[in-house]
Amino acid sequence: KRSLTLRDLQEMRGRDEPIAGLTAYDATQARLVDESGADFVLVGDSLGMVVLGHDTTIPVTLEDMIHHTRAVSRGVGHALLMADMPFMSYTGVDQAVHTAARLMQEGGARMVKLEGDAQQVDVVRALAGHGIPVCAHLGLRPQSVHKLGGYRVQGRGEAAAERMLSDALALQGAGADLLLLECVPAPLAGRIRAQSDIPVIGIGAGSDCDGQVLVYHDILGISPHSPRFSRNFLAGAGSIQAALAAYVAAVKGRQFPAAEHAFSA
Ligand code: KIV
Ligand code: NA
Repeated sequence: KRSLTLRDLQEMRGRDEPIAGLTAYDATQARLVDESGADFVLVGDSLGMVVLGHDTTIPVTLEDMIHHTRAVSRGVGHALLMADMPFMSYTGVDQAVHTAARLMQEGGARMVKLEGDAQQVDVVRALAGHGIPVCAHLGLRPQSVHKLGGYRVQGRGEAAAERMLSDALALQGAGADLLLLECVPAPLAGRIRAQSDIPVIGIGAGSDCDGQVLVYHDILGISPHSPRFSRNFLAGAGSIQAALAAYVAAVKGRQFPAAEHAFSA
């Protein structure tokens, strides 16, 4: 099977076929996620928490991301490989381009993800201008946890919702190829999806998205505290492989996320 490309994800959006993604941090996890039929694998900076044991993603370095992305790239065959740009690795256009180049050249990533609002428009435009596929992560941005005052739902209330919608459109206008919405009220995610024309991937953003992503450890129920928007797919599955396949099937079949995994406006 050839590897999926950004174009495949765009076509999936076009034909309303849900996109299923999962995180992975090492070659074995990547191989299992890839074999489960997931469409993309994200080397998330969540690795700072689930792999390295930090309390937040803030201590994660670019060297950490490259090291794990390279390992994951050895296990991925079919899925599109995306890697997070870590905290403070994209404070300006030059640094961002250099960071993305290293994740691609040394790590083997085919897309990079950054956390940002309209503030990141120049960075996204520069990456796009250099032919680097970009996913813009909006809503709950864990690298800003101390500014946000905790891991909380974002975009509640009309003013905040309008702001996120206009940020999303600005990032799309700057050349973002995907939008990722974390912990966003389901109706707002639906509005962003309706107004944008690039795939919208949700995590805690309800079912009205073009795709879903979850953290590997969360869906196996082995994180210290799994978020409410995730589900334990290992319970009853019998094996990690069956759990990963059950997740992909639930996303593709629109059984996940259910109402209990979504947030209201
Ligand atoms: O780091 C990560 O795992 C992520 C996902 C939660 C989207 O950014
Ligand atoms: Na992340």
